[in-house]
Amino acid sequence: MTVEQHWIRPEGRAELVPGTIGPRRSVPATIERPEYVDKDEAVSDTGPFVQSADVIARVREASRIAALALEAAGEAAKPGVTTDHIDAVVHDVLLQNGAYPSTLGYLGFQKSCCTSLNEVICHGIPDSTVMQEGDILNVDVTAFIHGVHGDTNGTFLIGDVHPRAQELVDCARDAMHRGIRAARPGREVNVIGRVIEKFVARQGMESVRDYTGHGVAEGFHNGLVIPHYDSAPMFDDVITENMTFTIEPMVVLGSQAWEQWDDGWTVVTKDRSFSAQFEHTMLITPEGPELLTVT
Ligand code: MF3
Ligand code: CO
Ligand code: CO
Repeated sequence: MTVEQHWIRPEGRAELVPGTIGPRRSVPATIERPEYVDKDEAVSDTGPFVQSADVIARVREASRIAALALEAAGEAAKPGVTTDHIDAVVHDVLLQNGAYPSTLGYLGFQKSCCTSLNEVICHGIPDSTVMQEGDILNVDVTAFIHGVHGDTNGTFLIGDVHPRAQELVDCARDAMHRGIRAARPGREVNVIGRVIEKFVARQGMESVRDYTGHGVAEGFHNGLVIPHYDSAPMFDDVITENMTFTIEPMVVLGSQAWEQWDDGWTVVTKDRSFSAQFEHTMLITPEGPELLTVT
């Protein structure tokens, strides 16, 4: 399906344009920051893929805090509110819990979460854009505490939305949960992607290939790639007990062809069809995945 899907947009909602990005929010010096903040590269973005009990305990804490902030973001996401207000809410909850917003100062990103509205696939920058009834908003929160990260996102309905937008959001959530159920020790990670892509295709939608899940612990993105499509024989890492990683499928109603705004971050569908995403960080146990980004 390559037709533009303007019919799904709320009345009066044109294609998105960049808003005004407000000043950077401050973090007290008492909160530990990742090494990469305001550097050109993130040297901590590296393995190992399998974590020690000590690291796992800390990823559990980081993940719980990220989930708390995402929950607060969801409660604040309403018509009339700016995406920068969502950033303020996320920022405050993270700080109150002693965590640093992992995205703040990561490879040039200047906000405490990503806010991806409607046709934005991922990495939207919180700004002065005002949400309106019928929009869908993804908020992606990563918390850093005690040297590790926990990463989660969800897509929220802004008031009443078009039934097809609701189906898109439901499909993305269900696709994530199918992928999670497939994440069992002994399988290659590409099995996760195959399950997700097949499920999404059955609903006439597409699972975006170019942005993946990832190992997360001491590294924000530690080098382990979790595809959301059938990548075999690529991405053949075997799922192993004590891995911590994300599954975070992005699902689009039209074509997954994308372009990036001049801000160097915001990724939008070329056909401006809507996109939805959900993300959890999980721990692989002998019995299967345990979700860590839960309150
Ligand atoms: N949290 C995102 C993910 O799921 C990464 C955001 S990086 C940023 O991997 F720089 F765009 F914020
Ligand atoms: Co992630
Ligand atoms: Co994320």
